[in-house]
Amino acid sequence: MADLKRTKVKAALTEVKVGEKICVKGWVRTKRQFFINLNDGSTINNLQVVADSDRFDQSLLDAITTGASLSVTGVVVESQGAGQKIELEAQEIEILGTADPEKFPLQPKKHSLEFLREIAHLRPRTNTFGAVLRVRHTLAFAIHKFYHDKGFVYIHTPIITGSDAEGAGEMFRVSTLDPKSPPLDDKGEVDYSQDFFGKQTNLTVSGQLEGELAALALTEIYTFGPTFRAENSNTSRHLAEFWMMEPEMAFYDIVDSMDLAEEMLKYLINYVLEHCNDDLEFLNKRLMDEEKNKKQEERREMSLIESLKFISENDFVRLTYTEAIDILRNSKPNKKKRFQFLIDEWGVDLQSEHERFLVEKHFKKPVILFNYPASIKAFYMRQNDDGKTVAAMDVLFPGIGEIIGGSQREERYDQLHSKIKEMGIDEETLWWYLETRKFGTAPHSGFGLGFERMVQFVTGMGNIRDVIPFPRTPGSAEF
Ligand code: 4AD
Ligand code: MG
Repeated sequence: MADLKRTKVKAALTEVKVGEKICVKGWVRTKRQFFINLNDGSTINNLQVVADSDRFDQSLLDAITTGASLSVTGVVVESQGAGQKIELEAQEIEILGTADPEKFPLQPKKHSLEFLREIAHLRPRTNTFGAVLRVRHTLAFAIHKFYHDKGFVYIHTPIITGSDAEGAGEMFRVSTLDPKSPPLDDKGEVDYSQDFFGKQTNLTVSGQLEGELAALALTEIYTFGPTFRAENSNTSRHLAEFWMMEPEMAFYDIVDSMDLAEEMLKYLINYVLEHCNDDLEFLNKRLMDEEKNKKQEERREMSLIESLKFISENDFVRLTYTEAIDILRNSKPNKKKRFQFLIDEWGVDLQSEHERFLVEKHFKKPVILFNYPASIKAFYMRQNDDGKTVAAMDVLFPGIGEIIGGSQREERYDQLHSKIKEMGIDEETLWWYLETRKFGTAPHSGFGLGFERMVQFVTGMGNIRDVIPFPRTPGSAEF
């Protein structure tokens, strides 16, 4: 039936009328006698195909095993069995690709997430990853919609850069020099002037600096792309390659920026609640099943869907770093020395245990912390009048910790210039950045959303490696 157009499984289940003849293509999830569950990733739900043994050769039926891909043409009929309204009565079945049941690693049973990471080339075919990937897509789309509707311009900032936006020195070098015998300069050091770009380059850790250049012309812009950090953090919240969404706005102060961050997070959550119902129901049930294996005191207080609704319906708490330190210093886990890093003096960096205490135990709401000590933040953040703090803000989420980091930017040339000097940053690599403060500088602000952390929050997945198709982490870049 070459001329019958392919119908997606989702459409077959929701739009096609009983009696219609359709062609579907997809992968076999399960087969029981002559009932085949087919999925093509358009929805978490499978289409039940009935392959009557009178009509098909036994050899063909035998080759239809879990993982095989099929093209099936048949008629949609009302289903006799429980669990589905309709099914497809197959008239023609073509096996597009077999999957040897002795060797196919994805059997129709529950596999651990750890095992699935080892077969990341096949895990998109599981219910969990199908759901995560569709939610991930929807979130990415919603980001573009949110900003597009507000008139922000999407800017593609470079992946290869010569600067270190965050100043943390956690960069992957990009070079075409021969690692066995690189050219050396007079001092015996590698001579990068002979490298591909005539200078040292690396993969970007953030699109912000170039985003700022665009914001100082187009006023409201955003970037959304991959960023790279060579930090040796083996946690459930860190990747070496992750996606960041960074809006940058001229004429916004730090409060305007906080307002935008809160509005955006709520919008994204509502968008997914509205458009990913089936997937969220599945992920919700999956998470609740997982919770049953936990000790009572470690269980979530809310289901996944409840916590999404809670965030979208409640205001975030906003407080200064100084206020947060006071709360933490006097908190039970600090006094009883249950924090791994005890809070003693003003000025220390907050660890995720502290962030999560504030959000999950103290306020039980998302928290926006602002006005951090200058000494623990990046060079570009605007100095406050107190001489100690900068106009930085972090949004902290339950179960995640920091999901957004941002700031008002230092728009005053002298202050920025002396900060760069003070921090020992190579001025040469940032001449263009400094120039924007000489020519028509303006107050501006922005922030970065860790996209995978957002996907984690919305899907309830505990490990960041399970919300990106092919994770890159220390010691691991397979697939
Ligand atoms: O707080 P960060 O480092 O901020 C910036 O990079 C700024 N340039 C953003 C800006 O103002 N335009 O990173 C922003 C967010 C963090 O809040 C976190 O959610 C995420 O990016 N993030 C990571 N996500 C996964 N793996 C990592 N290694 C991450 N590092 C940061
Ligand atoms: Mg940060």
